[in-house]
Amino acid sequence: MGKITVSERKPPLRVVVVGMGVRSMIYTRVALTNPELLEIVGVVDVDEKRREYARVTFGLDKDKCFASVDEFVSVPPFADAVINGTMDRLHVSTSVPILRHGYDMLLEKPFAINEEEAQELLDCARETGRTVMVCHVLRYAPYYQKLKEVMESGEIGKVINIRMSAQVNYFHESVSFVRGKYASAEICGSGMLLTKCSHDLDLMAWLMGDNQPRRISSVGSMFQFVPENAPEGAGTRCLTNCPVERDCPYSARRLYIEQPQRWADNVWHDCNMRRPETDEEKEIALSNPQNPYGGCVYHCQTDIVDHQSLLIEYQDGATGTFSMTGGASISTRLIHITGTKGEIYGTFETGRFTISSIVPSAPEGRVKHVVDVTEAQEGRHHGGGDREVVLDFIAELRGEPTSPGKTLLEDSVTGHRIVFLAEKSRLANGAMLDW
Ligand SMILES: NC(=O)c1ccc[n+]([C@@H]2O[C@H](COP(=O)([O-])OP(=O)(O)OC[C@H]3O[C@@H](n4cnc5c(N)ncnc54)[C@H](O)[C@@H]3O)[C@@H](O)[C@H]2O)c1
Repeated sequence: MGKITVSERKPPLRVVVVGMGVRSMIYTRVALTNPELLEIVGVVDVDEKRREYARVTFGLDKDKCFASVDEFVSVPPFADAVINGTMDRLHVSTSVPILRHGYDMLLEKPFAINEEEAQELLDCARETGRTVMVCHVLRYAPYYQKLKEVMESGEIGKVINIRMSAQVNYFHESVSFVRGKYASAEICGSGMLLTKCSHDLDLMAWLMGDNQPRRISSVGSMFQFVPENAPEGAGTRCLTNCPVERDCPYSARRLYIEQPQRWADNVWHDCNMRRPETDEEKEIALSNPQNPYGGCVYHCQTDIVDHQSLLIEYQDGATGTFSMTGGASISTRLIHITGTKGEIYGTFETGRFTISSIVPSAPEGRVKHVVDVTEAQEGRHHGGGDREVVLDFIAELRGEPTSPGKTLLEDSVTGHRIVFLAEKSRLANGAMLDW
């Protein structure tokens, strides 16, 4: 099952990082653990602190640290490729000049925030002949790789229906999609379906193979995080004017000071501030009226929906459904695929799925067995996909064998288009729209 081995005899891939944020820090760990495979030779970031982090961590020359993409493409190419870890709405505008300058690219998902942008990037990649690989890290998780293998083996027959869901727990939801940097389409350029669940719809597209959608409908709304749902007597800021703060699951004091393992790191990182050392410093930071992370989740005025469902009809008549729910007790990704010969069902986080096959001669009329990949995924974020995608990118550029999960730009198009059409449908009251 898809572990990528990259030849150590070749020189390391020399890469410039564009957008030295959280995700790029994760991907560039490969350069620290395996310098024989990956070398970071430059950085582009508008933020001086992030450039400095890269300069010190990777021992970069000052003239290889750029404050803008324009500056970076004004010098002749000096690396093999780029890792683009900027935020969603910058993906296309930063990628186009870099591809035109001759670099191949590992690009964060979503690769574009709307149909027009997606087409612009596809055209640019085709014209320039550059390789663009998209960070659909879950395709590398042993769980989904094994699932894909089973589907391709024909064991469950032809797919009749595929049901998937992703729910995001309440502290992740609030730090990212209510108070945080994904809370507004204006800031991040997209909604939760694209920024969070482009992974899931990419997986659905991948698992359905050549079977393209025929029609899509979608509904969703801002269900929870609106002023009408604020508890009686609630203030507007958890630390300064809320008398019911102790009873609220979204208390910023509890989440970011008392229980910092509940994603408090995102707060300090995304405020772009030095991580406060003491509880007192944290209180001061969260009490600042400008700090969105100290605000009441019900009064945040987010403009993205917190739950959404999709109904997809495929070209061969098969159906697919997907539900996204934010604000749950636990984050999970469920899948249930029913085929003409049997079913597959399971939960990603458990590392196990069950295959149940129609067997008329068996005592119960069926035989089932469990596929267990817990060992392969144990303790690895995204099931290990964050590292594997980098290794696959290196393998791709070197012409070495790649993973079945490899997602070049063209492979990523269907999943993105499902999201774009679903959004169009949601805004048209759930109209059933042709592909
Ligand atoms: N693949 C996944 O599983 C996954 C998970 C989370 C986030 N993401 C995606 O990763 C991307 C980055 O997220 P993040 O949390 O690392 O963001 P981040 O804010 O931590 O990093 C973005 C970086 O880009 C820099 N930047 C801003 N404007 C720039 C410009 N014009 N040129 C160059 N650099 C610029 C910022 O200063 C920052 O350092 C987003 O698109 C997000 O949706 C992917």
